[in-house]
Amino acid sequence: MVSSYEKPKTAQIVYFSGTGGTKMAASALADALIGREITCELFSLNGKSSFVGESGALLIVMFPVYAFNAPVIIDDFLAALAFSAGGSAAVIAVSGGGEVSPNTASRCRTIGHLRKKGFQTVYEAGLVMPSNLIMEYPEAISLALLRILPEKVEQIAADLSSGTVKRLKIHVFDRFLARLGVLEKRGSPDFGKKMKVDDACKGCGLCAAKCPRGNIALKNGRPVFKDRCIMCLGCIYRCPQKALTPGILKSFVFAGYDLNFLQKKLDEGSQEHSDSEEIKTLTKGYLMSGVRKYLLEE
Ligand SMILES: Cc1cc2nc3c(=O)[nH]c(=O)nc-3n(C[C@H](O)[C@H](O)[C@H](O)COP(=O)(O)O)c2cc1C
Repeated sequence: MVSSYEKPKTAQIVYFSGTGGTKMAASALADALIGREITCELFSLNGKSSFVGESGALLIVMFPVYAFNAPVIIDDFLAALAFSAGGSAAVIAVSGGGEVSPNTASRCRTIGHLRKKGFQTVYEAGLVMPSNLIMEYPEAISLALLRILPEKVEQIAADLSSGTVKRLKIHVFDRFLARLGVLEKRGSPDFGKKMKVDDACKGCGLCAAKCPRGNIALKNGRPVFKDRCIMCLGCIYRCPQKALTPGILKSFVFAGYDLNFLQKKLDEGSQEHSDSEEIKTLTKGYLMSGVRKYLLEE
């Protein structure tokens, strides 16, 4: 492992984002890198990617954590990536839960794929954005996560521009637990196929147009799901009519997830800053301990 690297002239950020959290983080990081005079290109894997690797550029891979791993879209991207001997990479996982077990192993598979393609991962980071599955965070916590994002990406940009090498610790059993994440991959197509479309659907086709897997088609003005769903939840949360409901794992999804609404609230200058005591109270318990650590830098 190298102990430092030269300040990159160019960074290429490749990201996938199901419901917008990783997209926000990737754009904020791009701005922070540009602010440090690093040319930055953003490539989204939500549609057809136009990515062409640039020799000497730092490759930054960003993704939402799915069942303690990277989404399959990231695996597919890396499988198709051209070999680049001596390339440097940074891997940034965006989770809902933070750097707690088993999330600490969430970057392993990506780092392994990158290694096979000749890239050495010189930098790892974990960002936390509001959870979009199972646990709905209190609004004050979601706002605090959005509010702290510029500071967090500024730190990453400062590290990358000063050649800081950072590899994060993996807890002992997390590698093993992360492998169980494969069950989520197997179950996701079923999640899509069992999706219910109610009468509120106006057939606008937004779900079909935005599905990152091309998994939704419109038939007689109604969405029909094929068998390539990865459970990113984009269609459910994006639907203007809220017409899509899971046929299975219904309670994993909640009505109130809306990052754009929260961001708007922040932009309008929401003064409701939570102090550290309130954050401590709202993040009690193991499941929120990664969020607490992230927000309070414990
Ligand atoms: C299918 C699925 C699995 C998830 N698994 C995890 C997980 O293992 N650990 C975690 O902390 N968050 C998990 N999350 C939450 C997301 O990682 C988190 O909300 C993230 O910010 C979403 O990013 P996005 O808006 O770019 O899609 C999961 C979300 C989904 C949809």
